[in-house]
Amino acid sequence: MPAPTSSLARFARQVRAGKTATPKGAVRLGVDLGTGNIVLAAVDAGNRPVGGAWTRSTVVRDGVVVDWAGAVRAVGRLRDDLARRLGVTFREAAVAIPPGIDAGTAKVFTNVLEACGLEAAEVVDEPVAAATALGVADGVVIDVGHGTTGVSVLRDGAVVRSVDEATGGHHMTLVLSGGLRLDYEEAESLKRDPAEEGLVIGLIRPTLEKMATIAARATADQADLPVYLVGGSSSFAQAPSIFEAVLGRPVSRPDEPLFPTPLGTAMRRNRD
Ligand SMILES: Nc1ncnc2c1ncn2[C@@H]1O[C@H](COP(=O)(O)OP(=O)(O)OP(=O)(O)O)[C@@H](O)[C@H]1O
Ligand SMILES: [Mg+2]
Repeated sequence: MPAPTSSLARFARQVRAGKTATPKGAVRLGVDLGTGNIVLAAVDAGNRPVGGAWTRSTVVRDGVVVDWAGAVRAVGRLRDDLARRLGVTFREAAVAIPPGIDAGTAKVFTNVLEACGLEAAEVVDEPVAAATALGVADGVVIDVGHGTTGVSVLRDGAVVRSVDEATGGHHMTLVLSGGLRLDYEEAESLKRDPAEEGLVIGLIRPTLEKMATIAARATADQADLPVYLVGGSSSFAQAPSIFEAVLGRPVSRPDEPLFPTPLGTAMRRNRD
C-alpha cells in the first residue's frame, strides 16, 4: 500500500486540478457529504487514489441532510463527472457519516446514494475514514469542519468515544464578518487567504482554543494516544500549535487536512 501522506497529497492534487490517474483493477468510490463541501474520492484495487470531485455545498447542517434534492443532484453530478473522466461506471459507493448519529439520520445518507443509483456498499464513521487515510488505528482524531468540530477516540480502528460541538469554519467566518464588517463571502475568502493569517488568527484564536478545550476535556484520560487534526478549518498554519498549547501534547496535522475523510471513505479497510 502507498505511504499515507503521499496518497493524501496525490489525492489532493487530483481533486484540486481535476486530474485522474489510470486505475489498476476495480475502482472504489467514497462519498463525504459535509456541511461545507461534498467530496467524492476514487481509489483503485491497490487503494491508490485515482481521482476525485468536489463542490461547496449547503445540503448538510449539523450532521443532518437538510436539502435532499440538492444533495442527490450534487452527488449525482459529481459521480457522473468522475466516472466520465475515469472511463468507469460506478454501481456502488461507501459513504461517510458523522459518528454518533442515530440510525434514522444515518439512513438519509445511504438514501442519497441510492437515489443517485448507487448501492451503499459501506457506511463509515468519518473519523474512521480519516484514520484510514492517515494509516492509523489508534489515536484521537479532531475534525474541525464547516458546521461542527468532532473529537473521536479510536482504538483498533473503531470509534470508542465521540464528542461533537456545533462550532466550525462557518462560525469562524461569522466572527470575521462581524468583527471586520465584511459580508459572508468576503469574510470566507479573507479567512482562506494565507497572507491574511495574522489578522484572521487574531480574531478566531478564541474559537480554536474553545475547540481545543473541548478536545482536552474529552481526551484527558487518553494520554497514550497520538492526536491528529483534520478538517478544512484546521488549515491555518498556526492551528496545530494552538491545539498543542491547550492539549499539552503533540498534535499532527497533514498538509491537506480537507481530504483524509473523503479519501479514507473510499479506501478498503483491512477486514476479515
Ligand atoms: N485554507 C483554509 N483556511 C481556513 N479555512 C479553510 C481553508 N480551506 C477550507 N477552509 C474551511 O474549511 C471548512 C470546510 O472543511 P470541511 O470540508 O472539512 O468541512 P465539512 O466536512 O464540509 O463540514 P462538517 O464536517 O462540519 O460537516 C469551511 O469552513 C472552509 O471555509
Ligand atoms: Mg467533515
